Amino acid sequence: MIRSVVRGVGSALPRRIMKNSEFEAALDTSDEWIVQRTGIRQRHIAAADETTASLGEAAARAALADGGLTPADIDLIVLATSTPNNTFPATAVEIQQRLGMRHGFAFDLQAVCSGFVFAVATADGHIRNGLAKRALVIGSETFSRILDWSDRTTCVLFGDGAGAMVLEAHEGEGSVADRGVLAASLRSDGTHKEKLYVDGGPSTTKTVGHLRMEGREVFKHAAGMITDVVEGTFAQAGISAEDLTWFVPHQANKRIIDASAKKLGIADEKVVVTVDLHGNTSAASVPLALDVAVKDGRIRKGDLVMLEAMGGGFTWGAVLIRW
Ligand code: UT7
Repeated sequence: MIRSVVRGVGSALPRRIMKNSEFEAALDTSDEWIVQRTGIRQRHIAAADETTASLGEAAARAALADGGLTPADIDLIVLATSTPNNTFPATAVEIQQRLGMRHGFAFDLQAVCSGFVFAVATADGHIRNGLAKRALVIGSETFSRILDWSDRTTCVLFGDGAGAMVLEAHEGEGSVADRGVLAASLRSDGTHKEKLYVDGGPSTTKTVGHLRMEGREVFKHAAGMITDVVEGTFAQAGISAEDLTWFVPHQANKRIIDASAKKLGIADEKVVVTVDLHGNTSAASVPLALDVAVKDGRIRKGDLVMLEAMGGGFTWGAVLIRW
């Protein structure tokens, strides 16, 4: 059977780093509160010339270089984002153009913080169906543009950035020993819309809007939903938590990451944490974390890696990959 094997990863971050202490002048908040409640110490904030398309392009080029590939080798681009450059065309098509590609196809996928996990599963489907041979899967966000900078309950939590992965068709045996995407579990439930949403859009307010979140309500559901989909992929692959080499969760809050890992029985030393450096970068958070752990030598060929995320919608999902 065809497997989608990881050929390269890359990432890109805006130049400007914003420390927690920088909020203290304008808002009733503190570095101590933010670190204690979330684990976040800093985030990157995009300048006017840094957009979802430019960050996504840079991450894509880094992933291609990591795999020893060029844009000519790619025939599909899936971009997970909730902060596109324009309402349309898809920012994925703009990235395709920036990469000098006029072949293949590209589209955006919108599943908020779960976007990258949904995009990996979607690209894997297209590869296994024979629609594509080599896919660039990108998560790129500029959430700083949709934050209400006067709302301390949300603006301290998010940051900007992009991460990318190249998936390539390979023949596999059909067993869990294969390299590539081995299992995926995706969910959504719109009854939770009001807990995390943006209060604008082209078809309603004709504005971009601002992010609104009932943080405590999201927090309450997060670990349970994450556990469900991770266990779903364990069941599909016939493995258990002990078999995992690395757990690469969505980076929203260190307390959610810790609670999920504990509930799943995953040891602390297998958990990749970058929320301290990047904050919550929505669809970019998982590939940014992946790139850190690949580049520092933690994730290696043959490792069993679990990606998971949960966010607005609600949407939630997990993907199991043999590196
Ligand atoms: O990507 C997926 C979507 N997002 C998430 O996964 C986020 C999920 N939620 C969370 O991570 C947490 O709920 C938060 C970090 C947002 C908040 O942490 P919490 O422990 O749930 O705090 P809380 O909302 O219960 O607020 C505790 C107190 C409140 O004051 P009172 O009502 O106890 O007087 C808040 O007003 O902390 C106050 N507070 C702040 N204080 C200082 C809220 N934000 C801040 C702040 N600085 N930035």
